[in-house]
Amino acid sequence: MTANTETVTDDLLPAELLAFLPCDTPQRWIEAALENPALLLIDHAQCEKKAASTAMSLMFRYVDRPELLTKMSQLAREELLHFEQVVGLMQERGIDYSHIPASRYAEGLREHVAREEPQRLIDILIVGAFIEARSCERFARLIPHLDEPLARFYRSLVRSEGRHFEDYLGLAERYAGKAFVAERVARFAAHEQALIQSEDAMFRFHSGVPALTE
Ligand SMILES: [Fe+2]
Ligand SMILES: [Fe+2]
Repeated sequence: MTANTETVTDDLLPAELLAFLPCDTPQRWIEAALENPALLLIDHAQCEKKAASTAMSLMFRYVDRPELLTKMSQLAREELLHFEQVVGLMQERGIDYSHIPASRYAEGLREHVAREEPQRLIDILIVGAFIEARSCERFARLIPHLDEPLARFYRSLVRSEGRHFEDYLGLAERYAGKAFVAERVARFAAHEQALIQSEDAMFRFHSGVPALTE
């Protein structure tokens, strides 16, 4: 990728989001994504569905948090809309929707979530912020390499996933304060960076550096 492309990509991303993420997506992942367009879209569809489901499970668990209920309800609806849009694109492109195992990424972050409340909720919100921020960054990095319909779709996703990142982080800060959240974010950032920069046997939307198996 040229320096110019990186500048264009960074222009799509809010400075706060770039500062939040501990590292850029490795170039090798971008190359693997372009080599596996069907797998990328199937896993993308899975991620949208999972994002809606995570938001809804928060709505069931934390009924005493009105701001969370409103934000998560809006977010779940948007993720389901994204899901429909990805499935539509797959159909247009003749890509069959098959069952594929999830990447290690979300589970790799969730294993560090505290078991006790109220810490647990804050950690779950921080993990949500990382997943949204990384998704947003990856959409933006892919855009310069994609055909126009997919690039247009991903540009719209950069905006909404960027908003979801702000929503998750904003809720965490509302409930636990900025200083406490910053400290937890730093811990999760180290785990996130390891998941993104270490070798990963499976290629997925949130996978690490693809292993060279062939
Ligand atoms: Fe989404
Ligand atoms: Fe999202």
